[in-house]
Amino acid sequence: MKGLILSGGKGTRLRPLTFTQAKQLVPVANKPVLFYGIEALNEAGIEDIGIIVGDTKDEIKEAVGDGSRWGIRIAYIEQEAPLGLAHAVKISEDFLGKEPFVMYLGDNILKSGIKSLVEEFKEKEPNSLILLTEVPNPQMFGVAELKDGKVVKLVEKPKEPMSNLALVGVYMFDYHVFEAVNAIKPSWRDELEITDAIQYLVDKGYNVHPHLVTGWWKDTGKIEDILEANLLILETISSQIDGEVDESSKINGQVILEKGVVVKNSIIRGPAIIGSDTEIIDSYIGPFTSIQKGCKIIRTEIEHSIVLEGSEIQDVGSRIDDSLVGREVKIYKCPPKPSVYRFMVGDKSEIGIK
Ligand code: DAU
Repeated sequence: MKGLILSGGKGTRLRPLTFTQAKQLVPVANKPVLFYGIEALNEAGIEDIGIIVGDTKDEIKEAVGDGSRWGIRIAYIEQEAPLGLAHAVKISEDFLGKEPFVMYLGDNILKSGIKSLVEEFKEKEPNSLILLTEVPNPQMFGVAELKDGKVVKLVEKPKEPMSNLALVGVYMFDYHVFEAVNAIKPSWRDELEITDAIQYLVDKGYNVHPHLVTGWWKDTGKIEDILEANLLILETISSQIDGEVDESSKINGQVILEKGVVVKNSIIRGPAIIGSDTEIIDSYIGPFTSIQKGCKIIRTEIEHSIVLEGSEIQDVGSRIDDSLVGREVKIYKCPPKPSVYRFMVGDKSEIGIK
């Protein structure tokens, strides 16, 4: 079985971060989202993965490499524009050949991985296996309607959803899907929709097997979802202290301090992860916080947040909460006089002020 991970697209909902970074490389618990997908496929025994890349291809290739770090083979398939999930399948026919495959959306994380699902697919041998989960806001997803346990209808982001069953971003197919992606026409948004391709399979009488996911699943396309995924992953970590902590500091709960981390006169209340060479001085780091490498957090309180590499946060008077701070950002206090705010803020940034 082969793997196809979709890591093209634009990531508009995560601007401004995605002006300078691929959305699939935004870290969750200090690991790029995309790596969770690669590792899930690897764990399910898949050793040949094609990654669909678009405008951010160089960055993705640099971060992921040829797969040797996981002992697998990774090939890159260039998509000229984000023309739809089914379009990504269409251009991968040469890579996939006649082998069945798992298609995994590069911004999705599934708690329980996909090992048992791949086993179910191999055992039952349907033409396609789709994952569904109940959500409160089905209009934001592809939605499926089941009748007597069978898939009858799929619609992409319906205004009036027929059910609360959303399509999770992991799909399994055999080669019949190429017949479908070659037959369907672009949707109103000019994309070849995978929901339409699956509907084609259903209409032609192919066996599309629905599997209901019960563990958590996150599509990390929006900041709230990234923070939530960060929380869910941090809940599973175990302490590992490879940095230096002075005597006036306290570390509580599950905390990972990577090499070269320096903690002085601070409290870190886990679960939290602090990347290599970051300094935490006279500060409070609260639960569900991931700080990447090379940051400085000085006289600041922060929790339930993600700070990307090389950023410096100093003397922020109130606690920082629910925040996603990009790379090499500086946040600091201005002198008391004149009493002004000073900003150097990129396009589409968001700043909340009391
Ligand atoms: O997350 C689950 C949802 O994912 C499903 O419920 C929907 O049915 C499915 O269409 C998809 O919706 P999204 O709006 O979240 O898709 P998005 O545009 O974010 O693309 C998902 C991933 O695929 C993302 O990593 C970018 C990549 N992609 C997307 C398109 C449209 C490509 O590589 N090429 C593309 O042409």
